[in-house]
Amino acid sequence: MSSPHVPLLAPSLLAGDHAHLAASARSVADLGLTWLHCDIMDGHFVPNLTFGPETFAALRRAGINLFFDTHLMLAEPQRYVEAFAKTGSNLISIHIEPAYDHAATLAHIRALGCQNGLVLNPGTPVAAVEPFLDQVDLILVMTVQPGFGGQPFRRDMLPKLTQLATWRRERSLNFRLEVDGGIDLATAAACRAAGADTFVAGTSFFKAPDKAAFAAAFSVL
Ligand code: DX5
Ligand code: ZN
Repeated sequence: MSSPHVPLLAPSLLAGDHAHLAASARSVADLGLTWLHCDIMDGHFVPNLTFGPETFAALRRAGINLFFDTHLMLAEPQRYVEAFAKTGSNLISIHIEPAYDHAATLAHIRALGCQNGLVLNPGTPVAAVEPFLDQVDLILVMTVQPGFGGQPFRRDMLPKLTQLATWRRERSLNFRLEVDGGIDLATAAACRAAGADTFVAGTSFFKAPDKAAFAAAFSVL
């Protein structure tokens, strides 16, 4: 299943050094990579906590110019999109599972000058995001249950990618198809074959003995 997009690696700051987040972000930029995946957790939608808008503002002040691919794992994301847009997000992804006005929030994200994305958990059928495909810049398929890095990749998510890539082609849409959770070179290749083009990598990137070689391998997936 081909993708209209070249493969893109988005290292996840969650797996970086939380005492030196700017240094971790700089290690991504120094490789010539452009995206940084930023996981925002609220302790409600997922059982963990990470960073907030002020972290982004501080990273911008520290000179980090990466594209902030912001993954909001929040029970009420609509309350926070403006704060993240103002402090430096370039793309803001919201989950389909909580009850709020998804279409209005996706439109609000664009009105704030950001790209938007819609995310589905492993237990959520792909049909849940189907009505929104013409309103998004990115669909993020979770390949682990969100909340923590370092979990094993869920191969049973591959058919979702195939279905989304089929809808994208049939409807002449252009959204990016991103995967997040347990991504390394082998699992990324399987996702690429199923139609994914944007690869979040936390543990595998920050623990790679040679980050430059790791990033180069992703660019030719
Ligand atoms: C999981 C987060 C991921 C996480 C992935 O809740 O959404 O972005 O950083 O980590 P790895 O790549 O270690 O599975
Ligand atoms: Zn994420």
